[in-house]
Amino acid sequence: MANASMGFGAGKVILVGEHAVVHGAPAIAAGIRRGVSSIARPAGTDSLHVEPWGKTWRPNAKSVEPLERAFEHILSRYAERPRLRLVVRVTLPPGAGLGCSAAMGVSLIDAIDKALGIRRSRAELGALALKWERFFHGNPSGIDNLTSALGGVLYYRRSSPPRTISPRGSLFLVVAHSGQRSNTKEMVARVSQRLARHPDWARHALDEVHTLAMDAETAIGSGDLAALGDILNRNHEILRSFNLSTLRLEELCREARSAGALGAKITGAGGGGCMVALAAEAEHAYRIASALAAETFVEEVRRAA
Ligand code: MEV
Repeated sequence: MANASMGFGAGKVILVGEHAVVHGAPAIAAGIRRGVSSIARPAGTDSLHVEPWGKTWRPNAKSVEPLERAFEHILSRYAERPRLRLVVRVTLPPGAGLGCSAAMGVSLIDAIDKALGIRRSRAELGALALKWERFFHGNPSGIDNLTSALGGVLYYRRSSPPRTISPRGSLFLVVAHSGQRSNTKEMVARVSQRLARHPDWARHALDEVHTLAMDAETAIGSGDLAALGDILNRNHEILRSFNLSTLRLEELCREARSAGALGAKITGAGGGGCMVALAAEAEHAYRIASALAAETFVEEVRRAA
């Protein structure tokens, strides 16, 4: 067994279709450079140490902590193994809609696989991390874990394999944190309740997101940034109609558009978390980021390597 092995799971931004993807519509997400790196090494006892949180967890199937149950579940999938110490470094804010929990699952499985000499494809790794995600989010669609494992830009619909989209040129995205925590489980439940109460209206909204995702695939592939920006704006309105926005997210979208963003929307579960805005090019993205009074970063999304 290798002395210390490293794994990685990327964070993600959803460009179109969050929530709708839980209910069968397609969505498009992009892997980002920030994510979770893990080191696995043999040790006297199983443990999971997470930086920069400075906390250590033990596997425990009966724990009230989802992280301890999820960790136990992942370890239990390896029939014969030495005890392992996992040290994890997180460069994503948790509860921000950027896929922190999925990235951690992907990264841990990747590090353990490598430590034990197990080979699997990134697609298999992503699929395996769905079980990990279920400990945190109840009914995850699978988009976060697959994007985390595969990177690039993915068109994903539940129960179908994801499709990689090759952007014509780089997409320059500005991500801004509202400073409020987003709770995916609660927001997914909020949307489900609304769907159950207003089924006709909900069907119409899901159909519209389906069309937006298909149009976004075309716009990304052909480099039509103006069309993609309009799609982001429209998707934001639909998310807003599901009561997933906040005053702060509205403010950030408005400020980004005033600074010239081609489109801006909630990204991820909403109810807090992040906004993503589309810039025309790299310098424009920096200008938009500077105009926002928030914690921001700029991401260049390219064709998967
Ligand atoms: C969370 O990043 C995205 C949601 O659509 C939930 C999911 O797809 O599992 C809100």
